[in-house]
Amino acid sequence: RGSPPPRNPANQLTQRQLTNLRAPRRREARSAHVTSAIKASDHAEIKHSVSDAHVQDQEQYAEMYARSLEDPNGFWRDLAMQDFHWETPIPEQHHSYNFDVRKGPVFTEWFKGGKTNIAYNCLDRHVGDGHGAQPCFLFEGNDVGVDGAMSYQQVLEEVCRVANFLRSVGVKKGDSVAIYMPMVCELPIAMLACARIGAVHSVVFGGFSSDALASRIEDCKARVLLTCNAVKRGPKVINLKQIADRGCEVAVEQGFNVEHVLVYANDSAESREDTHMVPGRDAFWQDVIPQQASTAEVEWMDSEDTLFYLYTSGSTGKPKGVVHSTGGFMTYAATTFKYVFAAQPGDVYWCTADCGWITGHSYMTYGPLLNRATQVVFEGVPTYPDAGRCWQIVDKYQVKQFYTAPTAIRSLMRSGAEWVTKYDRSSLRVLGSVGEPINPEAWRWYHEVVGDGRCPIVDTWWQTETGGHMITPLPGAWSEKPGSASLPFFGVKPVLVDEKGQELEGEAEGYLCISQSWPSNIRTVYRDHERYETTYFAPFPGTYFTGDGARRDSDGYYWITGRVDDVINVSGHRIGTAEVESALVAHPQCAEAAVVGYEHPVKGQGIWAYVTLMEGVDSSDSLRKELVMSVRSQIGAFAAPDVIHWAPGLPKTRSGKIMRRVLRKIASFEEDQLGDTSTLADPGVVASLLELRGK
Ligand code: WTA
Repeated sequence: RGSPPPRNPANQLTQRQLTNLRAPRRREARSAHVTSAIKASDHAEIKHSVSDAHVQDQEQYAEMYARSLEDPNGFWRDLAMQDFHWETPIPEQHHSYNFDVRKGPVFTEWFKGGKTNIAYNCLDRHVGDGHGAQPCFLFEGNDVGVDGAMSYQQVLEEVCRVANFLRSVGVKKGDSVAIYMPMVCELPIAMLACARIGAVHSVVFGGFSSDALASRIEDCKARVLLTCNAVKRGPKVINLKQIADRGCEVAVEQGFNVEHVLVYANDSAESREDTHMVPGRDAFWQDVIPQQASTAEVEWMDSEDTLFYLYTSGSTGKPKGVVHSTGGFMTYAATTFKYVFAAQPGDVYWCTADCGWITGHSYMTYGPLLNRATQVVFEGVPTYPDAGRCWQIVDKYQVKQFYTAPTAIRSLMRSGAEWVTKYDRSSLRVLGSVGEPINPEAWRWYHEVVGDGRCPIVDTWWQTETGGHMITPLPGAWSEKPGSASLPFFGVKPVLVDEKGQELEGEAEGYLCISQSWPSNIRTVYRDHERYETTYFAPFPGTYFTGDGARRDSDGYYWITGRVDDVINVSGHRIGTAEVESALVAHPQCAEAAVVGYEHPVKGQGIWAYVTLMEGVDSSDSLRKELVMSVRSQIGAFAAPDVIHWAPGLPKTRSGKIMRRVLRKIASFEEDQLGDTSTLADPGVVASLLELRGK
């Protein structure tokens, strides 16, 4: 998203927020390492200098960047060999790929022939180097006062116990394991345990419903499920185990049987006695894991062996199982973490993401541990018990790097600067943003209020499919512009193309594609290589198509303008409009549904659903609630429509295609810009939709 001001008045800032923006508390920079200079202009650029960053200036970047594109084989091999343990070293020639569908099947290989293990590199390597006593996880519970810490040694031992348990129930290299857990330390531990034995983890975000869990379990054929009895999120208790049980039942109805369920008893949310357990299938983590040995043999994996599946939404059909492999993902997640967060071993880092999303894979479980960071694991929500919770945690643990989503920033911004400024925050050094475009207002608030104007903001653009940061500032290496993700990371070659696939040079706006392979690009869609090729490589042959639009300015900076397909981004959660539509249509009284995104002041995008009811059915508030429930139960609460717009008919072309462009304009109150509607089969439809929407 570029700099133009929001058009929808509802998105404009309130007077209170404006006041906060105009009068941020400015203090002298207290950290000796970081100074900043703000150049005020229309295209404000902000330059920081970070003395211990790994890239000091744009020249050093340009040199490394050029080599990364010219000699990817050597550039990445050097990094991978220098930073990690390889049981079998990477061959000199290890990399090949084809991104061009016209030249045959699309494939990617990095470090092929090298053998390693990512869990070993996250844990054993550091313990072996004498860092076993360093805190690995600092756990902060939902309720103030519930906390704990685990050292690298302790995490390693627990990972081994869980690995042994998995082996004891027959899990072998290549088998899928489903993980459906809240943000407790046992979630990354479960992932690492799978990685240690070469099992493929498939983490399902704890906010997904039983139906969504079942379809993911079924798709990857996970015979073992790791879950938790319950979790507290703010004042609410969520009984995950009940959802998981229902998910297993649904899977059985679909003909697939989960054989073992390991349940972590989260006593602060629900007592064990209250948890329903299925005899013969279920066991409590606390009963069976302590019995296991605290060492476990490592499974050495070829670099191209699969590390995990992560399901993500696309514009059509059901979610796709994105496949990432071991060595490329490891090297790229670790290298981006190190450079983008200017990380040094031992830094206290906190990412507020959930392991159920890619950010929690690359920048919670793997990237930080590969760099020997000490990591905060937070079970709760940023606004509970009050809007100062994040900064209280930052002070408590002296967090240096803080990484969150624009939606959280916007929601905290609404509560007022006083919740931030009452805390010290002087430990903060780098502030990160991820998941959706950050609007310049939120960017400035993050910079001025949270970071006291002294911390670089790294606005990291990337995707589940890319495995790691793609376009992002490096702290202090060049100026930041609020709202721009700036320049590509090493090895990433972005291109902008027009509808015909023609590459655009210089200042331009177009479809964002990537024309060269990088170590952690998506390897395939699980069990559907054809869908992989059609989705990502067929649209603009020769490149990987991101699904996003972007603009490049005269300094070569990229400004992501958002999705150009039918994917919407709600509070940083990626949702396919087709999925929401099919959940609505599943309701017996819904004849047809069309879903679009609209600008939402806090969530970034909200979900606007046009619903046509069956003949003879009248709209009502209770029906509205039932329709929303249908989405909640089939996908999850985070995908619930914000608006149900009754539609006697939908705008369609004569060939029956829904004109989404028209629906988007109506949802954003831009009916004056409907454009050409002469192809509408029934032009009267628009007028009746406008009437039902109101002003
Ligand atoms: C969007 C999340 C603008 C984008 C890591 C992308 C962003 C989708 C940014 C991927 C950013 C992510 N600026 N847009 N910094 N980061 N996006 O797979 O539309 O959940 O395609 O990965 O989020 O979402 P995903």
